[in-house]
Amino acid sequence: MNIAIVGATGNVGRKILEVLEKKDLAMDNLYLLASSRSAGSKINFKGNDHEVLDLETFDFSKVKITFFAAGAKISEKFIEKAAKHSLVIDNSSFYRMDPDVPLIVPQVNSDHLNNIKKNIIANPNCSTAQLVLPLKPLHDLFIIKRIVVSTYQSVSGGGKAPMDELIEQTKSVLENKKIQSKNFTKQIAFNVIPHIDLFADDGYTKEELKMVNETKKILDNKIDLTATCVRLPVLVSHSESVNIEFEKPFTIDKVREALDNFEGCKVIDERSDGGYTTPFEAEGRDETFISRIREDKTINNGLNMWIVSDNLLRGAALNSVEIAEALIKNNFYGK
Ligand SMILES: NC(=O)c1ccc[n+]([C@@H]2O[C@H](COP(=O)([O-])OP(=O)(O)OC[C@H]3O[C@@H](n4cnc5c(N)ncnc54)[C@H](OP(=O)(O)O)[C@@H]3O)[C@@H](O)[C@H]2O)c1
Repeated sequence: MNIAIVGATGNVGRKILEVLEKKDLAMDNLYLLASSRSAGSKINFKGNDHEVLDLETFDFSKVKITFFAAGAKISEKFIEKAAKHSLVIDNSSFYRMDPDVPLIVPQVNSDHLNNIKKNIIANPNCSTAQLVLPLKPLHDLFIIKRIVVSTYQSVSGGGKAPMDELIEQTKSVLENKKIQSKNFTKQIAFNVIPHIDLFADDGYTKEELKMVNETKKILDNKIDLTATCVRLPVLVSHSESVNIEFEKPFTIDKVREALDNFEGCKVIDERSDGGYTTPFEAEGRDETFISRIREDKTINNGLNMWIVSDNLLRGAALNSVEIAEALIKNNFYGK
């Protein structure tokens, strides 16, 4: 089986390579693709150097699975061509809300893979992927009515350039130099920005609307969700403060048990100094961590919790590779 990665030189592309190195995915040839800027450079995979190829001239007929991680504009331009020959797993937002494209977090809704119509499968936005994972077992037990979520998102969610800029800005602040933001709307070093992606007419940002619409598509159209998405001066891992209103009563013990038993989730909630997870500890880890689990005493059947996950893994690379594993395990669902 041949595999290609579009955007192999970027944050998500490189993480896909790291995840593939750790997994035992049967693979004959690996093709690493990027723009003409990076074509000709070399990336090492399992001890061998692979030359980066130019996406513009690549022939997809030799590939069985292609990961796209190069942004929505590249997905729009190239995926149709790639999907004529290859199953495509897309990390961008371009196809996520297409009714003929399954939007998948494998532990939550791999049954939607039975319905692949365009040879394209979409990976959710990073903040949605880490949210729906712990929501799934709780929704199965207690039925979620409404969610209020505030995110604390790292700069790696925007790509490699914003990560470099956070480091540069931090140095500049410490050296008392003037700052000019390039990838952010305000200074990000030592600051917090309540704005990710473009504004919609109603005042919400597209990042917030993605959480609303993608949660409905993956989990249940009946769930109401309202979100505030915020960028923090953190390099990797997103955090989320989540308030949930259930239809049915619950106990904290039952919530912990359900989360602990759900594949991909890990409860760290000691109710003492340091007995919770922060973005720093979640970096490089496959699990989505849940802490600060407590009852919201201001409403009926209300729960608060704190969710932290490596956005480049659960929110992108790990999730994409797990989709590929699910496809292979099920013999490509008859394709
Ligand atoms: N970061 C996250 O947490 C996250 C989570 C979920 C989804 N995503 C999505 O994943 C995608 C990639 O994000 P990222 O964070 O990895 O971005 P990134 O670090 O900026 O990397 C972008 C990649 O796209 C390639 N690229 C850019 N223009 C191209 C072109 N014209 N033709 C071919 N390749 C081109 C770049 O190659 P060059 O080296 O040639 O420039 C690079 O490999 C985005 O759609 C993003 O929304 C990201």
